[in-house]
Amino acid sequence: MTRVAIVTGSSSGIGYETSLLLARNRFTTYATMRNLNKSEGLSEIASKEKIPLKVAHLDVNNDSSVDNAIDSIIKENGKIDLLVNNAGYDLFGSLSIWLFQ
Ligand SMILES: NC(=O)c1ccc[n+]([C@@H]2O[C@H](COP(=O)([O-])OP(=O)(O)OC[C@H]3O[C@@H](n4cnc5c(N)ncnc54)[C@H](OP(=O)(O)O)[C@@H]3O)[C@@H](O)[C@H]2O)c1
Repeated sequence: MTRVAIVTGSSSGIGYETSLLLARNRFTTYATMRNLNKSEGLSEIASKEKIPLKVAHLDVNNDSSVDNAIDSIIKENGKIDLLVNNAGYDLFGSLSIWLFQ
């Protein structure tokens, strides 16, 4: 049975790469982002490689946006197997580098 994944913050960086990785490994992947104008690159790759990646709107700061996205994904698939809740920014800046030293 196909596994279903959601990735938040897929317009760039880790979310973008994780969405591609999951879809290339046959997860039905919802690459979600708050600004769909940034989805063109991902959609082009998905269609060229014929991988199961769908772009959807989801702003993690907006409860109704989250509810709408989850409801619609559950309606289409009956389940969600994996959530990669990546969206956001590191507020610690260089402090996090110090924490790892
Ligand atoms: N890169 C690292 O070395 C590192 C290390 C530790 C932790 N992290 C954490 O990993 C996450 C991703 O890092 P990154 O390097 O990939 O950062 P990034 O390239 O700046 O990506 C951040 C992503 O989050 C999205 N985002 C921000 N607010 C959002 C919201 N309200 N709703 C939906 N999406 C939202 C951004 O969308 P927009 O394009 O719309 O702004 C963007 O796609 C961050 O939480 C970061 O703190 C990263």
